Amino acid sequence: MATKTKKQAFDWQLAPAPESKDHFTLKSEYDLFIGGKWVKPKSGKYFDTINPANEQKIARIAEANQADVDAAVKAARKAYDNVWSKMPAAERAKYIYRIARLLQEKARQFAVVESMDGGKAIRESRDVDVPLAAAHFFYYAGWADKLGYAFPGKTPSALGVAGQIIPWNFPLLMAAWKIAPALACGNTVVLKPAETTPLTSLLLAELIQEAELPDGVVNIITGAGATGAALVNHPGIDKIAFTGSTGVGKLIQKSIAGTGKKATLELGGKAANIIFADATIDQAVEGIINGIYFNQGHVCCAGSRLFVEEGVHDEVIRKLKHRMRSLVVGDPLDKNTDIGAINSKEQLGTINKYLKVGVADGAEMYQPACELPSKGFWCRPTLFLNVAQSARIAQEEIFGPVLAVQTFRTVDEVIQKANNTLYGLSAGVWTDKGSKIFNLTSKLRAGVIWANTYNKFDPTSPFGGYKESGYGREGGLHGLSAYLNLS
Ligand code: NAI
Ligand code: MG
Repeated sequence: MATKTKKQAFDWQLAPAPESKDHFTLKSEYDLFIGGKWVKPKSGKYFDTINPANEQKIARIAEANQADVDAAVKAARKAYDNVWSKMPAAERAKYIYRIARLLQEKARQFAVVESMDGGKAIRESRDVDVPLAAAHFFYYAGWADKLGYAFPGKTPSALGVAGQIIPWNFPLLMAAWKIAPALACGNTVVLKPAETTPLTSLLLAELIQEAELPDGVVNIITGAGATGAALVNHPGIDKIAFTGSTGVGKLIQKSIAGTGKKATLELGGKAANIIFADATIDQAVEGIINGIYFNQGHVCCAGSRLFVEEGVHDEVIRKLKHRMRSLVVGDPLDKNTDIGAINSKEQLGTINKYLKVGVADGAEMYQPACELPSKGFWCRPTLFLNVAQSARIAQEEIFGPVLAVQTFRTVDEVIQKANNTLYGLSAGVWTDKGSKIFNLTSKLRAGVIWANTYNKFDPTSPFGGYKESGYGREGGLHGLSAYLNLS
């Protein structure tokens, strides 16, 4: 039996390796970034953003009301009419390249602040979020003066002002996914980050000032759902780009119906990861672990359902449990941490509710016996075995480090089970047979399907889903068309 140590249920312990915070200073209060300036909110209100790993306040953040949203949209319109739409595309590209380069220069600070404000492990913010965000700016900067080549035979033109609302799971990366293509296509933007993770968007606003973008091309306003709704409903917006919950996505769809506003919605997911008996099992297990425990499972494309071919079920589960016992849960700023803090008390409440539901529905729950820090919001990596297809933990998005395992015997059976969900964002297939991969990728109703890997992203690849996972694509050429009139 493994000895229990403070951080992990394994018989060895890693020395602490915390990333330092002394190479930058954060302000204690952030105002709204409108028209190239920091302005006090007309609402007069502020809210706190906290560090979910210790529940300490990091900074006070302005709460934008309808009048503030109006000021931001007007600033974006003015910048569009007077400057950005008139600028030669190659000049626009230079600004976007400048943002990309500055982001690379300041990568360390952005990674640390992302982990402090949102709870994700520094290993991920440092190696995934920040480099990918910079890569998106580089990629779309390259397209700015080549839009005519991207869509031969068409005359691409900008839409105007884009309202962009992003969630808390990949705060900087989602800001990059939204802002980079919008600017490359000649639009101006008003972006609202999530209320629990506003800091890296606000640092991005400072960086954009440093890059000397013309005033009002990018406006960043903070606040919660009411601020987002005011942005969606503002008549001066030409396009809404939203990533978040399916519930809010549906609300947005209703409120823009008949207005002529365009929309892209990237919503939830309940991805199936499928392991065939002929797969390289060790590699598959590592991919499954990455697919669900990466970023605390706060990933819309998380591989939250696992389908194992019956013959290898026992081996896969034994290896999964073994690997789970070596995962380090704890301080997000520690370079050894695999699973950081859950983003908010509310989200932890949602996850804990699903753990109870899973047990009550008759599934068998496994968690390694690691100790959790006393302050902050934490969840052990969790596995549910013997899960019924109809169980809520197999159907509903949990958005936490919780994996629901089912078995299958035939290809047809697993395709049917995997597609039996309201969502259709992503899926994973593990097998050494190329023919099986092609058979599944043509039959699984999911926007992104990974084969013998998982959670791999690249700015050149489109990303988006079917059914209740939303519509529209981000990334690649598809991501450009979402910000253009193509006549
Ligand atoms: P949410 O959808 O409420 O939040 C996402 C963004 O939308 C935030 O910026 C929020 O301020 C804004 N927002 C909230 N209400 C709005 C409204 N009426 N109009 C316009 N904007 C609005 O997500 P929440 O409540 O933080 O998380 C709930 C669940 O949603 C999670 O448990 C997860 O299942 C799912 N989710 C999915 C995400 C994804 O990447 N697909 C990201 C975040 C959450
Ligand atoms: Mg926070």
